[in-house]
Amino acid sequence: MTKVVVVKSCKQESRDTVTISFDWEVNAVPGQFIMVWVPGVDEVPMSLSSIGTEKSITVRRVGEASSALHALRSGDKIGVRGPYGNGFKINGMRTLVIGGGVGIAPLMPLLRTMYADVAICARTADELMFVEEASRYSDVVRVATDDGSKGFHGNAVQLAETMMASDFYEQVIACGPEIMLYHLWELCERTGITCQMSLERYMKCAVGLCGSCMLGRERVCVDGPVFTGETLRLLHEFGHSRLDEAGRSVTL
Ligand SMILES: Cc1cc2nc3c(=O)[nH]c(=O)nc-3n(C[C@H](O)[C@H](O)[C@H](O)COP(=O)(O)OP(=O)(O)OC[C@H]3O[C@@H](n4cnc5c(N)ncnc54)[C@H](O)[C@@H]3O)c2cc1C
Ligand code: FES
Repeated sequence: MTKVVVVKSCKQESRDTVTISFDWEVNAVPGQFIMVWVPGVDEVPMSLSSIGTEKSITVRRVGEASSALHALRSGDKIGVRGPYGNGFKINGMRTLVIGGGVGIAPLMPLLRTMYADVAICARTADELMFVEEASRYSDVVRVATDDGSKGFHGNAVQLAETMMASDFYEQVIACGPEIMLYHLWELCERTGITCQMSLERYMKCAVGLCGSCMLGRERVCVDGPVFTGETLRLLHEFGHSRLDEAGRSVTL
């Protein structure tokens, strides 16, 4: 059931990303997502970037619904339902957490709960976010930019490879563009490191009924959005194709 909540604050995180906070008393675990209804526009899936009594979503502006979310001001109302999906499993392993672009947002509730080394990656310096907050929870926070404007000059996978060469990790937990996740998963397969990755697919119902989020035989809304490396091994669409709004298979 959709609940109407009042926006408490809107914080600019980077050039094209804003964090929208609101009070909503519902239990959630790190990595879960919600469906956000913008009246008169659309309903879209968004990961939770805070999971206390005060919840938040961190939104990158890409199209109509995300632009409408960027236009919100405190006091405005949105509809929310959920939380949905499985979330990340915390298991005590020595962990490297990797966020690409807005993919760092769903990883923040995890970093507030467990200790891990962190890699935050973006195309360019003014798209980096949560670096200062992540540094409060971890002694090792590395940043990378594709254009070299800040930190390591290279992509998330290249930074992960460098960090793995100089330190010992048992597990990688990651969220970001699927092409990044695919190459990261390949790296984990090659090096024998366990992984959990959060994926995105087109979603309508978010409760496992409509099939619009199918990834092979998995429904991303209920079986994911977090998948282990072993499950990803069986999903041949991972890194290659997805269903579009009309249910057609399109190349990523
Ligand atoms: C589980 C999950 C968690 C997500 N978490 C975040 C997040 O934390 N922050 C963030 O900025 N974005 C997140 N997204 C992506 C976000 O839902 C889309 O960027 C958003 O729906 C774009 O809508 P739009 O109208 O602005 O853009 P459009 O122009 O309509 O679409 C832009 C892109 O978003 C995709 N998209 C549009 N509607 C949906 C939908 N209902 N389901 C899935 N994909 C859609 C389109 O296929 C297209 O690739 C998440 C997606 C999923 C599935
Ligand atoms: S969104 Fe309907 S089954 Fe997943």
